[in-house]
Amino acid sequence: MVRVLFVCLGNICRSPMAQGAFDALVAEAGLDAQIVTNSAGTGAWHVGNPPDPRAQQTAARRGIDIARQRARQVTPDDFDTFDYVLAMDGDNLRALQKAAPKAARGRLHLFLSFASTGKPGDVPDPYFGGPDGFEHVFDLVEDAGRGLLRHIRASDLDLP
Ligand code: 4NP
Repeated sequence: MVRVLFVCLGNICRSPMAQGAFDALVAEAGLDAQIVTNSAGTGAWHVGNPPDPRAQQTAARRGIDIARQRARQVTPDDFDTFDYVLAMDGDNLRALQKAAPKAARGRLHLFLSFASTGKPGDVPDPYFGGPDGFEHVFDLVEDAGRGLLRHIRASDLDLP
């Protein structure tokens, strides 16, 4: 079993879309039973809330339903539970590095380090922008999700 946690600031825009996009890729690959995912925020403002309506609509336009996700904050246990803790941007990564025990630092990555560009960068925060920002975010997280799935399949010998 491989466990993957997607992390952004509010857990209502980027990481829910990243989880939704990646879940769809995992399902398409028939690996639902082997790969477990979740998402969380470094901040607590939106705990208990569903994804931002713009994030839900963007995912829905691509046939992906993220309406049942609920925001939560990263917990200390997450660094134990998840094999991959994937930060959407550099601020998220620094917050995770501060919170994680030293032994868990190797589990932390910038999510876009798995992107096809090969250039780890930030998934831009779309919260204060328009709908185009959400479309762009979805493209980025879907592309990085493909790279992540390839990486997991290549590194976990138990996976088909
Ligand atoms: P997210 O976007 O980190 O992609 O979920 C944000 C959502 C809410 C806020 C910031 C970013 N906020 O400040 O409330």
